Amino acid sequence: MARNDRFLNALRGHDVDCTPIWMMRQAGRYLEEYRAIRSKHSFIEMCKTPELVVEVTLQPLRRFELDAAIIFADILLPLEHMGINFEFTKDEGPQINNPVRTREDVVKMREIYPEEQMDYLLRSIKLVKEELNGLVPLIGFSGAPFTLASYIIEGGGSKNYVHTKTMMYKEPDTWHLLLEKLTNMVITYLNSQIKAGAQAVQIFDSWVGCLSPFDYKEFILPHQKRLFKELDKSVPHIHFAFGSSHLLKYVKEAGGDVIGLDWRIDIDEAWNIINYEAGLQGNLDPVALYGSKDYIKMRVSDILTRAGNRNGHVFNLGHGILPTTPVDNAKFLIDTVHELSRR
Ligand code: CP3
Repeated sequence: MARNDRFLNALRGHDVDCTPIWMMRQAGRYLEEYRAIRSKHSFIEMCKTPELVVEVTLQPLRRFELDAAIIFADILLPLEHMGINFEFTKDEGPQINNPVRTREDVVKMREIYPEEQMDYLLRSIKLVKEELNGLVPLIGFSGAPFTLASYIIEGGGSKNYVHTKTMMYKEPDTWHLLLEKLTNMVITYLNSQIKAGAQAVQIFDSWVGCLSPFDYKEFILPHQKRLFKELDKSVPHIHFAFGSSHLLKYVKEAGGDVIGLDWRIDIDEAWNIINYEAGLQGNLDPVALYGSKDYIKMRVSDILTRAGNRNGHVFNLGHGILPTTPVDNAKFLIDTVHELSRR
């Protein structure tokens, strides 16, 4: 493990000695040491046990020369305290037992008090920081209001977001009330993580790409703008909207020091679209890690060439690393990014 600040420097648009890299979902099932712990505990139990959070957060950093750690948690955790009951099923991902469908359901949703209700997370952040001891920065995160809304309205993952969009189109006042409440929650939640020691925060808008630009502007942008306005500015903000190349200029308008990209757009084109006014994070297809080392090197080289050693690039996958990813290819990726981007 090598001590460095290149991640924070890149987020702030400062000079770096080489391009920093971390991987979304870097703590997870592709690591056998993660699976070993997971076989003894449920996912939620792991999230709520600070000693286990510290261990799995640090696992990928013991193997790879990553430039950041991300706290082990999940975007759904704070919803419990708003009155949403969910569970993680074995194969289908998160499932919500009391989906929010009516205005009444929205009105009933409560504010959260992370210091009292989510002490396990804030304590975990402090413990990870102590263990890292300045090795690399620690990222805190939250789901974005739309992505959280889609889970609680649909009751889980979705293909067409019919219930979510129906609320938007038929009951816009209810929709805006829901987004207002979720935006308040995300601000409170992230600011408490920052106060506990998170040195950067990422907002995951994983499913907002299902919207048209028209709907993003009308139903998301005002809330997302307020979110970034009210976030603690003592640390940099990363705004990741998956599958959203068609929304890029609005995502940028909403806010974020660095905008996260998936792999569906070239980084040079993305930079041009946002007029070079923010940094960019990305943008390798996670499935590229199933290719040969030659292929991985070729793709890394292409992304780095397009980024042109411009300040403000954080290398990442375009979405979370997949559970069956060959681990030595992840290591190869990280080393190759550093080697090929050396200034
Ligand atoms: O990046 C990291 O290493 C930090 C940990 C992290 C997890 N979830 C752990 C996790 C982060 C940043 C998340 C965010 C998250 N959670 C998102 C946004 C990122 C994205 O992928 O777009 C979303 C949509 C969720 C909701 C969620 N949590 C789903 C859909 C699932 C099930 C799918 C799956 O991969 O199993 C989870 C469970 C989950 N969250 C796991 C992990 C490691 C798997 C739990 C297990 O071990 O079974």
